[in-house]
Amino acid sequence: MSIVDTVKQAVTGAVTGAMVRLTPDAPVDPLATKHGALGRSVPRVDGPLKVGGQARFAAEVPVEGLTYAALVYSTIAHGRIVTLDTAEAVAAPGVVLVMTHENAPRMAPPAIFMSNPRAAGASDLPIMQDPSIHWNGEPVALVLADTQEQADHAASLVRVSYEAAQADLSFDQARAQAHAPDSVLGEPARIAIGDAEAALAAAPYRVDLSYRTPRHSHGAIEPHAATVLWEGDKLVVHDATQMLHATQWTLAGIFGIREEDIRILSPFVGGGFGGKGLWSHQILAIAAAKLSKRPVRIALSREGVFRVAGGRTTTGQRVALGANADGTLAALIHTGVAAMTAHNNCPEQFTFPARHLYAAGSFLLEQKVADIHMLANTFMRAPGESVGTFALETALDELAEAMALDPIELRRRIEPDKDPTSGRAFSSRHLLEAYAKGAERFGWSQRPAPRSRREGEWLVGMGVATATYPYYRMPGGSARIRLTAEGAVVQMGSHEMGMGTATAQAQHAADRLGLPLERVRFEYGDTDLPPGTIAGGSSQTVSIAAALLAAHEVLVAQLLKLAGNDSPLGGLKAAEVEARDGGLHHKEDTGRGESYASILARAGRAEVVAQAEAPRPMEVMKHSMHSYGAQFCEVRVSAVTGEVRVSRFLGSFDCGRILNPQTARSQFRGGIIMGLGLALMEETEFDERTGRIMNPSLAEYHVPVHLDVPEIDVIWTDIPDPHSPLGAHGIGEIGITGVGAAVANAIHNATGRRVRELPITLDKLL
Ligand code: MOS
Repeated sequence: MSIVDTVKQAVTGAVTGAMVRLTPDAPVDPLATKHGALGRSVPRVDGPLKVGGQARFAAEVPVEGLTYAALVYSTIAHGRIVTLDTAEAVAAPGVVLVMTHENAPRMAPPAIFMSNPRAAGASDLPIMQDPSIHWNGEPVALVLADTQEQADHAASLVRVSYEAAQADLSFDQARAQAHAPDSVLGEPARIAIGDAEAALAAAPYRVDLSYRTPRHSHGAIEPHAATVLWEGDKLVVHDATQMLHATQWTLAGIFGIREEDIRILSPFVGGGFGGKGLWSHQILAIAAAKLSKRPVRIALSREGVFRVAGGRTTTGQRVALGANADGTLAALIHTGVAAMTAHNNCPEQFTFPARHLYAAGSFLLEQKVADIHMLANTFMRAPGESVGTFALETALDELAEAMALDPIELRRRIEPDKDPTSGRAFSSRHLLEAYAKGAERFGWSQRPAPRSRREGEWLVGMGVATATYPYYRMPGGSARIRLTAEGAVVQMGSHEMGMGTATAQAQHAADRLGLPLERVRFEYGDTDLPPGTIAGGSSQTVSIAAALLAAHEVLVAQLLKLAGNDSPLGGLKAAEVEARDGGLHHKEDTGRGESYASILARAGRAEVVAQAEAPRPMEVMKHSMHSYGAQFCEVRVSAVTGEVRVSRFLGSFDCGRILNPQTARSQFRGGIIMGLGLALMEETEFDERTGRIMNPSLAEYHVPVHLDVPEIDVIWTDIPDPHSPLGAHGIGEIGITGVGAAVANAIHNATGRRVRELPITLDKLL
């Protein structure tokens, strides 16, 4: 099965349960609770290379005869190019090529990741093939020169005139024509159970609220970059990507070449967060390399990242809750609209949390999209869930206040015994335990009444909100294990963007093989390796784990065969042995076993190689699988200036077994910090007159810096999910969810003010 098919299945099949041949549950993975390397804090294996400056990122790979690319961006949002004057640029010093739609090679439109029928995460627009313009910032020319400075200078000399067409740029106007998206990540855009509007109207307690969340731009520490070269008909791309194989097959389609003639390498990525996919810059660089017959480096400037790599889109949401006198919900309504383009399909799944979190007598959950002439939006750490939980979890806080209930007590009363919309059993859900532990540690019982605690000019308050993110496992990944007398190398074309993947999977392989951690290495980041899955949807940890588990089964069978009857293992079946102490041993008869070195030596072999594909993610069809958390926030708000200072934060998570506390804590904390940015600072300023992004720099696009971030405490239940590989859940995204609401609820507790529009800047508090 091709990656295209497996990704499509992951999105349209496995997740919705459309391909329903259920298999019995696999037996619980014995490593889910066993203690070895897993469960220990292990520093990142890629750390020393990065700290020592030896890690080569995509823009740092040395290549002979390199040329450097600079882009020229359109200054209108919709219309066409009328004239393109490149003469001065062509004549500028060091210029190798100026590429525009007039001389660019013919390329098929990209069928980018999840492209059925329209692309998600990017756009299916043809790239530099005609004079039409679709967003303000679209590349209209690429200049290649011998140095970056020469390319940048020459790009400033390209003169373009446009004929503007009517552009849809106002979110409020476009909202009036909002329409249903094709689907929301493979799920229906609308779910209605019972008559929620009627139940709301009849409920003794109700809130009915509107929320706005802004655009966000990706700001990973490493701006997007690629170094590309053609070796004959073969294309080599050193990319910064979280989707190696999807990039490979998409490029094959665009350039009409075979997947096996494309090699993508991405050993180091300076942060992905959903933004490091395939955008126009890699495609343009490849086209320019083809045209110039020279290797090309394209390193987007920070402005370039804002112009050509999409981010989180703006939403308008409604949450209405109707409660019975006993605090149960009669109606849960979460609806709204996200800005999107006509050329992608990334509707920002903000209603997903409400589909699974709480029990209610009736539901109305519906998302629409409004088409805008803008850069295609994409995934950005917990797309949908981050802004969806802001609306849902602040509305619950308002309801709790209206009912004079503690907000944690309200969540106890609406805790469901099964998934409220799918009816499936939860695989593992300990949200209330996470709340209880967090409340105790944070000192929740000390929460003041609204606007009742003041220290000098500072109003102090506490807030809480639920964090949640789905469990996904992507099909189609294969792992290879190469075992020698010295140790093992596990190979899989997967991704390390700083999350700790290579470290956690080395720990996993060490325990799986019964080897010390120092003798195991995880190789990744190269399409020449067996195919990995995307690093997205917080799915990669379990996707790799499942493939490694499958490859290990093959390896054990091969080893037993190789051992033969002269071995102490002779006659034993795979189910009777376990890997430990550098070899295979009888599970009960502890004295009976043989080391890998001895098995290999007797067989006269230097290594054994085993490869297998992970089984399909059947577990998600049988169970409702999600991660949870309780976010606790304390803020201090200046009564004089409205300035908000987050003074304490605690995340209490329930995300299955934690594989490496050190890297996990960093992921949770990073998510929470990004959540503080979402709550208080981040906003892409989109000029609705021109469609131009007006703050394309980290000087004007504000993210939290050290002084904005207090000590963040992180705890977890560490209860293994009996239905997932290793008992684990991916944890890359859940940290950001619920943070916006926890901060907003704390601000309300401190000041008595409700702000329902992000970011909560001081002007909204005065
Ligand atoms: Mo994530 S937003 O799927 O990298």
